[in-house]
Amino acid sequence: MHCPALSDGFDFTDPDLLQHHVPLPEFAALRQAEPVRWIPQSGNVAGFQDEGYWAVTRHADVKYVSTHPELFSSYLNTAIIRFNERIERASIDAQRFILLNMDPPEHTRVRQIVQRGFTPRAIRGLEERLRARAVAIVERASEQGGGSFDFVTSVASELPLQAIAELIGIPQDDRAKIFEWSNKMIAYDDPEYAITAEVGQQSAAEVIAYAMNMAAERKQCPAQDIVSTLVAAENEGNLNSDEFGFFVLMLAVAGNETTRNATTHGMHAFLTHPEQWELYKRERPDTAAEEIVRWATPVVAFQRTATQDTELGGKLIRKGDRVGIFYASANRDPEVFENPDSFDVTRDPNPHLGFGGGGPHFCLGKSLAVLEINLIFNAIADAMPGMKLVGDPRRLRSAWINGVKELRVTAA
Ligand code: HEM
Repeated sequence: MHCPALSDGFDFTDPDLLQHHVPLPEFAALRQAEPVRWIPQSGNVAGFQDEGYWAVTRHADVKYVSTHPELFSSYLNTAIIRFNERIERASIDAQRFILLNMDPPEHTRVRQIVQRGFTPRAIRGLEERLRARAVAIVERASEQGGGSFDFVTSVASELPLQAIAELIGIPQDDRAKIFEWSNKMIAYDDPEYAITAEVGQQSAAEVIAYAMNMAAERKQCPAQDIVSTLVAAENEGNLNSDEFGFFVLMLAVAGNETTRNATTHGMHAFLTHPEQWELYKRERPDTAAEEIVRWATPVVAFQRTATQDTELGGKLIRKGDRVGIFYASANRDPEVFENPDSFDVTRDPNPHLGFGGGGPHFCLGKSLAVLEINLIFNAIADAMPGMKLVGDPRRLRSAWINGVKELRVTAA
């Protein structure tokens, strides 16, 4: 059946769409009537044919695609963006060296190595330092008196970058430049940031060069840190310097904006659901971080490419077709979640797909992200319990990130 609910030309990857809202009504219509649907895209680029992608909107199907890498490859890029923009960005394609864009067996080899930096012990080891950081960030923001301030820049932005810097062991003096490069690599769909693809590419190159240099130093002079663990000796069980460079690049992208947006959306959700904020302040449920990620779904979708003809949701997917897996839709699927449109910080179980569909690429930084979200909201509940919203959030223009650029609040 062809679902009439979408108007002709409707495209989930149109950045103008996410600038206004996550298209939840359209997702609901598709889940109901046509859960796997072909969305045509017009390329208008000389020499290239128009094409499109399959929009996969049900929880079960998003999971299926994520857990079958032999049918749905990550190799041809996982960012789901518009046809025109893909052509423009083809040149930035160092993508295949990035973990997210690898397939087994290469992915399995690299993932097994980098996983060593993300063991529960390694994450627990960061907890006290990150707690102190979270408290300091929130205290600084709370000193802004009765005036309003931007929650994104004053609170949500810093902890994710500090967490990555702590994890990798980037010295304090180098952090400002790493933060600047990391911020420049993201969000270039939004003209307000005036960041061109070239600037993004240049910043990515700086991050890679910095990390490769770090790897080379640790190889000569090993220390008690994750860099030394990952690069110690060059053999099958370690990363070479190039691989380490791309891994740090991936962390700077994957762990930065995602957690920043989860935190910002979480604050907005609390302030627009005051009963949940009261409950949180009283009981501090450890289920809250997962609900924030379900509710916000900072990564709206990723993409796979079919490796062979296969069937999904009653549709024939042809080899080479692009397949968009919409986490934001799966996370509101009433087949899985009771009252999916309620923000409920005590929700348990909460099998959301905000960190991925449970396949080999499942978010490596999930425990770190959950820790950061818990630490920041605990600090806010202690130091700024009476926070108030001032106006609406200003949303990011992006093809696949549910982002907020500015959220004005007052501390009391
Ligand atoms: C992968 C979401 C925080 C590192 C992913 C994926 C999603 C995601 C959806 C893809 C999963 C898949 O394809 O199955 C998020 C969200 C975060 C977050 C919503 C915050 C709320 C972090 C942090 C780090 C991180 C803090 C590290 C510092 C990674 C890495 C991958 C990944 C390395 C690639 C894993 C692979 O390809 O094997 N994340 N992430 N993420 N994430 Fe996260």
